[in-house]
Amino acid sequence: MTMTGITGQISNEVVPGNILLNILRRNKGKWVSGEALATHLSLTRSAIWKQVGILKKEGYEIESLPRRGYRLLAIPDLLLVQEIQDQLETADFGRGEIHRYVKTDSTNNQAKELAARGAAHGILVIAEEQTRGRGRLDRTWFSPREENICASLIMRPSLSPGMASRLVLLCAVAAAETLTEAIGLKANVKWPNDILVGGRKIGGILLEMAVEMDAIDYMVVGFGLNVNSPAERFPKEIRSNTTSIFMETGKPFSRVVLLCRFLKLLEDRYSKFLETGFESVISQWKELTDMVGKRASIRTINGLYNGEIVDLDHNGFLVLRNNQEGEIRLFSGDITII
Ligand code: BTN
Repeated sequence: MTMTGITGQISNEVVPGNILLNILRRNKGKWVSGEALATHLSLTRSAIWKQVGILKKEGYEIESLPRRGYRLLAIPDLLLVQEIQDQLETADFGRGEIHRYVKTDSTNNQAKELAARGAAHGILVIAEEQTRGRGRLDRTWFSPREENICASLIMRPSLSPGMASRLVLLCAVAAAETLTEAIGLKANVKWPNDILVGGRKIGGILLEMAVEMDAIDYMVVGFGLNVNSPAERFPKEIRSNTTSIFMETGKPFSRVVLLCRFLKLLEDRYSKFLETGFESVISQWKELTDMVGKRASIRTINGLYNGEIVDLDHNGFLVLRNNQEGEIRLFSGDITII
């Protein structure tokens, strides 16, 4: 077992604790005798007691009584590895290792480090809290403890770096679809990487990659989603244009369910993209956006462009039109709708 980061752990091996947890989970609310567990797992009763202690430390509420044994009372609302593995419906994403941090600087940083050391396609990094969560253009991504989703997925696509703009849009579409499918919220996408509900930002994608020659070596898809944070949790400067699922619905929601849904939708969209191309992403993106037809001001590394948004082209570039320059195709930028 490797320890990384501020408070990191890898905990997705099949260890007695996992089997023990599955038994307690299947019998949730009912007593299971220590002796039966010890026999089933070929462990001593004191080893069972130790494993239960580890689960309790992770946050599982387990009652223990002499002569009765153990009973699972509650599963905590945490992004626990085994809860995620239990609910995942994917073939690859999240199926290898899941690296969970109680607190780390940024899951993207951790994922990039792992990928640079050779971590495989599909490995997932999650955190309950980030101390230096980042968005695009090095903006701070607010990541309070145990309320929202902070996750980074390592991908190793056999694609050229030029495909990255398409993949950002693909991820944004999967994120917006997650909100609609799992909660029934009408989510929009804002080019290139924002997820909005009612015009306010609820989530975002931070895609970072390493390139070797003219191919992508690895890509890290960072996914941030505001799930259970109340309005007052957000810093004043961003409060008016930020929202969360809790703020929209008045109810808390399971982050595990949402993360698993997102990974499934992302994997399905990605496979379809590899098989049939980018068309279906473009048409879905257009359905999910209300940007087309609006006037915008877009800051890029080459300067500032103003004009009317007329389309998203087959590469995922935003097409802007103005009287001076005609049609301009933009790969990336910081956009303000006027
Ligand atoms: C943006 O809106 O510009 C993108 C926000 C992406 C935030 C996520 S949270 C998990 C991952 N780790 C980070 O530091 N950032 C991404």
